Amino acid sequence: MTDTDYQSDTLRDITPEPSEVRRVVVLISGSGSNLQALIDEQTHDRLGGEIVAVISNEPEAYGLQRARDAGIDAVVLPHREYESRDAYDGALIKVIERHEPDLIVLAGFMRILTPRFVQRYFGRMLNIHPSLLPAYQGLNTHARALADGVAEHGCSVHFVTEELDGGPVVVQAEVAVAADETEESLKAKVHAREHLIYPIAVKWFLEGRLKLEAEGATFDGMPLPPHGLRMSHADAAEELDEE
Ligand code: GAR
Repeated sequence: MTDTDYQSDTLRDITPEPSEVRRVVVLISGSGSNLQALIDEQTHDRLGGEIVAVISNEPEAYGLQRARDAGIDAVVLPHREYESRDAYDGALIKVIERHEPDLIVLAGFMRILTPRFVQRYFGRMLNIHPSLLPAYQGLNTHARALADGVAEHGCSVHFVTEELDGGPVVVQAEVAVAADETEESLKAKVHAREHLIYPIAVKWFLEGRLKLEAEGATFDGMPLPPHGLRMSHADAAEELDEE
């Protein structure tokens, strides 16, 4: 060992690591109410990191305004200007990389992602979906749940893999479907639950508690059950002051 080695080792022992802020890029296509829930947590220093950019494929997405109002870089990348899905995702990767994110958060980003995009962010990309996965993958989840007459519906946060809405689930929140439920009322209840669980899942990831390992999603080193952690209807209703 040289003197220099010795010195640097010693210094490493006594110098605290600079606490690096974990960086989040959020992708949206619409209203961005989930984005808002994340911004609200950030405002109260409870997110465990910083949203450094919001990117929308839809120029009119209201979420862009929410980002600007919060002083967050808001980027429009319209998919219609690209000739293929692959070309768009390539451009999206370039924009994302400029922001050097630790985590990509899909918050109502209504696009099917190419395998190359998913592989690039494998293990560091989360999505929220309006159903208790694996039930009702895809679109129109509330209408389909009502048509089936299910007693229970909800939402899920999951890691994104190449299987659409099929990656390992992290956390779910339940909604008990009322006898007089309409698509609108169900959507509103699910949305409120999304705003509860998404910031929690993001925080867990940023704190290093939530990981995607070879055997699936883990929380504090323990494998998560197939449907992730569950927030019951009763707990969510209490949290939300619902009737
Ligand atoms: C949310 O309900 C989210 O679960 C859904 O889009 C909505 C976006 O709302 N995502 C999907 O359906 C993805 N498959 P927001 O723009 O108000 O956050």
